[in-house]
Amino acid sequence: VTPDSPLRFGRGGLAEFAGSFEYPGGRAFLVTSEEVARVHGAAIRGAIGSRLLAEIRIDDREEKKTLAAVASILDRAVEAGLRRDDFVVAFGGGVVSDVAGFAAAVLLRGIQWYAVPTTLLAMADASIGGKTAVDHPAGKNLIGAFHSPSGVLIDPDLLDTLPDRQFRSGLVEIYKALLVGDAKGAEAFLGGLEAAARSRDADAPLLAAIRVKEAIVGRDPLERGERRVLNFGHTLGHAIEAFGGYRRFTHGEAVAVGMAVAGVLSAERAGLDAALASEIRRELAAFAKDAVEGADPASPAILRALDLDKKASSRGRAAVLLKAPGKPVLVEDLGPESWLEGLRRVRDGIVL
Ligand SMILES: NC(=O)c1ccc[n+]([C@@H]2O[C@H](COP(=O)([O-])OP(=O)(O)OC[C@H]3O[C@@H](n4cnc5c(N)ncnc54)[C@H](O)[C@@H]3O)[C@@H](O)[C@H]2O)c1
Ligand SMILES: [Zn+2]
Repeated sequence: VTPDSPLRFGRGGLAEFAGSFEYPGGRAFLVTSEEVARVHGAAIRGAIGSRLLAEIRIDDREEKKTLAAVASILDRAVEAGLRRDDFVVAFGGGVVSDVAGFAAAVLLRGIQWYAVPTTLLAMADASIGGKTAVDHPAGKNLIGAFHSPSGVLIDPDLLDTLPDRQFRSGLVEIYKALLVGDAKGAEAFLGGLEAAARSRDADAPLLAAIRVKEAIVGRDPLERGERRVLNFGHTLGHAIEAFGGYRRFTHGEAVAVGMAVAGVLSAERAGLDAALASEIRRELAAFAKDAVEGADPASPAILRALDLDKKASSRGRAAVLLKAPGKPVLVEDLGPESWLEGLRRVRDGIVL
C-alpha cells in the first residue's frame, strides 16, 4: 500500500488534468455516472483528450454499489482491449470512486487509477486513503481492496452543480476530520459550517481535512489502529443510515447525529470540555435535524444495527471519543445502550 497519492488541489484544475501526474504510457478508461457525465462530461473528456480509450457510466445510487457494477466495468474494459499500461479515471462521487477503484484493483491483477472526485464528501474522504469497496446484501463495503490512486485531482469548481444537501453532507465529514486531527482547524471552523454551506466555499477546511486524513492514513494505511479514529461519529451514524435504508438520510446527516452524540459521551467519559461538547452539538444541529427527528431511539431497527456493528467489530473496533479536539481516544466498553441513551439526550436538545 502506498497511501501517499500525489494530490493536485485548485479551482479550475480539471483543465490541467492531462499534465497533472506522471501517467503510465497507455490510455485512459473513464468511469463516471450518468448524472456526473451530464453536468461535467464534456469537461473531463476535454481534459483527458486523445488518450481516452473508452467511457462507462455506472448507476451511482448506493444500492447499485455492488459486484455487478464492478463486473460491468470489467466487461467494458476487456471489450475495449484494456492493457496493463492503461489506467482508470474515476470521475464522480464516492460511489463511483469506490467501484472504479476496486475495478482497477482487480483488472489485469491491478492497474493504476486516478481519482477526480466531484462531491465534497469524495474530495474530503472517499478519494483519499486507498480504500475501495462495494456493498454486499449483508452489509456496506464488505468486499473491496486497498488500492491507492496514483493521483487525486481536486477541483472545487466541480461542486457548483452539487445539490445543497450533498454539499452539507460533505461539510460534516470535513468537520469530523478536523475534530479528530486538527485542533486549530476545528476551532477555526466552529461557527463556520452554516456559513460554508451558504457560501458554498469550504476550500480551506477541505484542504485541512485532506491533510488530516493523509497524515493518519500514512501512519496506519491498513486500519490496524490509529486510522479507526476517522470513524468518529460513525458507530451511531452507520446505524441511523441503515435504519433509513441508506436512502432516507445522507451519510453526513446520519454522521452529524453520531458526532453530536459522541460529543456528549466524550464530555461524560473522555474528559471533553462540556461547554465545547454543547457548542459542537449546536454547530451540528442544523445538519443533524432531519436524521435526529427521524431516528427514534426506541426503534428496534437502530438497536439491531448497533448490535450488528458490535458483533462485527470483535475486539478491534472500539468506539471513538474525544478528549479534546485533535485528541481522540478509543473506548472499548461503549455498548448500544450508551449510544441510544446519548441519542435520547441529543434529541431532547435538538428537537424542541
Ligand atoms: N473509500 C473510502 O474511504 C470512502 C470514504 C467515505 C465514503 N465512501 C463511500 O462514498 C459513498 C458516498 O459518496 P458521496 O457522498 O460522494 O455520494 P454519491 O457518490 O452517491 O454522490 C451523491 C450524488 O451526487 C451526484 N453528483 C456527484 N457529483 C456531482 C456534481 N458535481 N454535480 C451534481 N451532482 C453530482 C451523484 O450522481 C449522486 O446522485 C458511499 O458509498 C461511501 O461508502 C468511501
Ligand atoms: Zn464517513
